[in-house]
Amino acid sequence: MKGIVLAGGTATRLGELTRITNKHLLPIADYPMIYYPLKALESAGIREVCLVTGKDHASRFIELLGDGQVIDRQGNKVFDLDITYRMQARPGGIAEAISLAKNFAGSDKVIVVLGDNIFQYPLTKYVQKFKEQKQGGRILLWKPENASAYGVPTIDETTQRITEIQEKPREPKSPYAVIGVYMLDPKVFSYLDNIAPSERGEMEVTDLLNEYIRHSVLEYDFLDGWWRDAGQSQRELYEISKLIYDSSVVL
Ligand code: DAU
Repeated sequence: MKGIVLAGGTATRLGELTRITNKHLLPIADYPMIYYPLKALESAGIREVCLVTGKDHASRFIELLGDGQVIDRQGNKVFDLDITYRMQARPGGIAEAISLAKNFAGSDKVIVVLGDNIFQYPLTKYVQKFKEQKQGGRILLWKPENASAYGVPTIDETTQRITEIQEKPREPKSPYAVIGVYMLDPKVFSYLDNIAPSERGEMEVTDLLNEYIRHSVLEYDFLDGWWRDAGQSQRELYEISKLIYDSSVVL
């Protein structure tokens, strides 16, 4: 199983903070944002990671993370990863960014983590379940204050299966957000071929997940602990840092 971390996009919601740098290099508590999704993968046992980002700041990621063997200023090992890089020419959507990792993934299952997602607890138990899953995909749901800011699943009351996922719906059909962890079998790359850009010109991850639903192979778990999307606003960066300090989350 391999990991993919997405760190492209435009991050216009963060205003002046991202005018000259990439969102994922901004600080959250004691570390650059990108450290958190990378650590989430590493602590779940994933070593080979592909980092996808735009060309403007790609060199800063290489400076910071190199080949994935990262030592901090005190000489402690921060990461023992094997990192490969892919460049996204323009922010063409999360699904497009995933497609760039096709050769990297080969015939392995992948865990995609959005570079701005921060979790209270390790993802190990969900990754373990996915390891045991014979086929298909697996996603994680969490109940935020305002589901309409995220991808939202419709869950059938009888079967408890997800029947559809809508991207930022005005009227959410459930109170849950689909968080930015997508566990996908190798069919992902053929499903990606069936996706066309949306009205806003992006290849949407919800369309990709709806392909898994169409084939009746999308499973889910509810995530324990808190989850945050650090791309929402400048204030969120501060709130998340505070949450990390207050709940003693260690990287
Ligand atoms: O955080 C969870 C949410 O993330 C999901 O609930 C939504 O379904 C999903 O679409 C996404 O929504 P966002 O509005 O937060 O997406 P954003 O544009 O902020 O991109 C999320 C991450 O993906 C971000 O870390 C940058 C990366 N990205 C995004 C785009 C559009 C890329 O690497 N390339 C891209 O082209």
